[in-house]
Amino acid sequence: MSQVNAVEAVGLCYCYDGAEKPAVDNIDITIEQGEFVGILGRNGSGKSTLGKLINGLYLPTGGSISVYGKPVTNEDEAYQARKSCGMVFQDPDNQMVATIVEEDVAFGCENLGVPSAEIRERVAHALETVGMSEYAMTAPHMLSGGQKQRVAIAGVIAMKPRLIIFDESTSMLDPSGRQTIFELARQLNKSGTTVVWITHFMEEAALCEKLYVIDSGRIALMGTPKDVFTQREQVRQLGLDVPDMTELAAMLISNGISVRPDVLTIDEMEVELCRLA
Ligand SMILES: Nc1ncnc2c1ncn2[C@@H]1O[C@H](COP(=O)(O)OP(=O)(O)OP(=O)(O)O)[C@@H](O)[C@H]1O
Ligand SMILES: [Mg+2]
Repeated sequence: MSQVNAVEAVGLCYCYDGAEKPAVDNIDITIEQGEFVGILGRNGSGKSTLGKLINGLYLPTGGSISVYGKPVTNEDEAYQARKSCGMVFQDPDNQMVATIVEEDVAFGCENLGVPSAEIRERVAHALETVGMSEYAMTAPHMLSGGQKQRVAIAGVIAMKPRLIIFDESTSMLDPSGRQTIFELARQLNKSGTTVVWITHFMEEAALCEKLYVIDSGRIALMGTPKDVFTQREQVRQLGLDVPDMTELAAMLISNGISVRPDVLTIDEMEVELCRLA
């Protein structure tokens, strides 16, 4: 028997109170357990709203969504969806709730009613996973932005979700902090967590398994990163860039140098250039 999908949405809509048009407008999306899915789109296109529908923070105003086979139609069902889907936001400062790191990481588990002995185990394991064990007794305000984001992720991991939505969770970090968080998400994915990665960084998008580009609340493009980024003109019209290496490949091709048009990363470009040499 095939495994249940992490997310199945059909005709999914969400309209904010008083808004003229829906922020999420008739979206069909299936996310398989274990996938690493990227969500792209210009500002205001509906990415965060879609994330909050998956995570059960919002209930659909139209269409349907099921999370791990369970339809989400009312508050009780949304609470169950929140148990299986964690969400990490953009600003780590807004996610800190306690005065020491350990308590902060425990907060979500406490809300779920996890017994305290088990919470201690889960918190220790989560802090170890994000490489922050030595900061367990530190005050969150003493940490750097990247460290705070790792603590926020530990809080989500401790709740043992099957899926984690990262909503631009690297956008306030420097390049090395960004890399750490992205690698952490890839590690969690390798250990079986489904990942929904919302980003404006095309280099991160290039490393996702599958991409959805959202525009005005609808899916405008979808496919593998190679499928999506070789459609350079459409991607631009949707307010996005293509990865630098894809742009460089196009420039080389227009100058008569025959590299593959679907190069996405520096590693792939290196292979192409070495092939020419
Ligand atoms: N709380 C809210 N109340 C009313 N309208 C909202 C609210 N949050 C978002 N919207 C509107 O819904 C639409 C989609 O917003 P959303 O935050 O989902 O976009 P986004 O793709 O995440 O944008 P960004 O890249 O800036 O984070 C926008 O038109 C936005 O103005
Ligand atoms: Mg957003």
